[in-house]
Amino acid sequence: MTPSLSDTETAATSIQNAHHIVLLIGAGISTAAGIPDFRSDKTGLYARLAPLNLPFPEAIFHINYFRHTPEPFYAIAKARHPRNLKPTLSHAFLGLLAKKDRVHFLFTQNIDGLEEDAFVPPGKMLAAHGNWKTQRCWKCKAAYPDGLMKRAIAEGEVPYCQEEGCDGPVKPDVVFFGESLPEVFEEKEKLVDEADLMIVVGTSLKVAPCSRLPRAVREGVPRILINQEKVGDFGSRVGDVCLLGSCDESARALAGALGWGDELESLWGEAVAAKESMEGDFENETSIDECIRRLAQENQGKMISDGHKKMLETHLESKFARLSTAASKGNI
Ligand code: APR
Repeated sequence: MTPSLSDTETAATSIQNAHHIVLLIGAGISTAAGIPDFRSDKTGLYARLAPLNLPFPEAIFHINYFRHTPEPFYAIAKARHPRNLKPTLSHAFLGLLAKKDRVHFLFTQNIDGLEEDAFVPPGKMLAAHGNWKTQRCWKCKAAYPDGLMKRAIAEGEVPYCQEEGCDGPVKPDVVFFGESLPEVFEEKEKLVDEADLMIVVGTSLKVAPCSRLPRAVREGVPRILINQEKVGDFGSRVGDVCLLGSCDESARALAGALGWGDELESLWGEAVAAKESMEGDFENETSIDECIRRLAQENQGKMISDGHKKMLETHLESKFARLSTAASKGNI
C-alpha cells in the first residue's frame, strides 16, 4: 500500500516549512538493511525466537535474564551486530534532512548506528537505547577490551569479566529492559517542546519512554508517521499525516515531492560506499534463524530451558525473601 499523493504532498509541504524537526526512529527503518524488527508478525525477532523456549521473547534483552543466562543474547549477537550493515534509503533521507539543517534533534531506539553512517551528526541525535560501540561487565561495570568482544561475538561465545574475583558476563552498552536510559534523555526530551514538526519512522511506539515523545509535541504542530501501520495516537490530531507502507518508498516519494530526488540517491550512494570502505567486523555467514536453531538444539527436549528455570528460581527466591521479611515483621 503506498500513501496517497495528497498525503505525501501535505507531508512534503510540512517538511518544506519546518526548520526544527524532531524525529523518533525505530527498528522498522533498518529492516531493509537486513535486521528484522522486533514485533512484526512472523518476520519480527520475537516471533523467530520461539524455538528457544524463553520465559517471554523480550527476556533475551532483559537484564534479570541476561545476568544468569547470557547465552541466547550472544547466540544471535553476530547476526544482529551492525558489523557490515549498510544504511538504507530511509537513513539517507534522515541524513539529507540534517544536511539541509532542518533536524532539531533525532531520537533513535536502534542500536545499529546506521543514522550516523548516513551522516546524521552525532551532536544532533541520541541513541536512547545505547549502542554496540563499548561494553562492560554487567556486575562490576569494568570496561572490556574491544578486540576480545569482537572475538566473542564472532564465535557466539559469552565474554566474562577479567577483573580479579569477578565472574560477571560482559554486556555491550545497550539498554536492556529493566535498565534506565542514558541520563541525558530527560534533558534532550525537552527539545520536543521546540519542534515545529515531528516525524516518526518505523516504530510500534510500544516501549516507553520513547513512545511518549509524539504525544509531547505541542498541539498545532504537525506530525508525520512513516510506518507500515498506524501506531500510537497518530490520526487523533488535525495536523497528523500517516504515510503507511514501506518507509523506503515513502522516503523516495517525499524526496520526489520536495525536488530532492537526485540529492537523496547520491547521498545514499555516498553513505553506502563510505560504510563499505570500513572494515566489516564479521563475515555475514550465519543467519539469525540459523543462530537460533543451533542454540535450540542444545535445549532440545527440555520442558523449559535452563534459563527459564533459573529465572523462575530467582523470582521465587526473591518472593520468598519478601514473604519471610513481612512475616518477621508480623505483617502476615
Ligand atoms: N517500513 C515501514 N515500517 C516498517 C518497516 C518498513 N520497511 N518494517 C517494519 N516496520 C514497522 C512495523 O510495522 C512496526 O510498526 O516498524 C515497527 C517496528 O516496531 P518494533 O518491532 O516494535 O520495533 P521498535 O518500535 O523499534 O521497538 C522498540 O522495543 O524490543 C525493544 O529495545 C527494543 O528499541 C526496541 C524497542
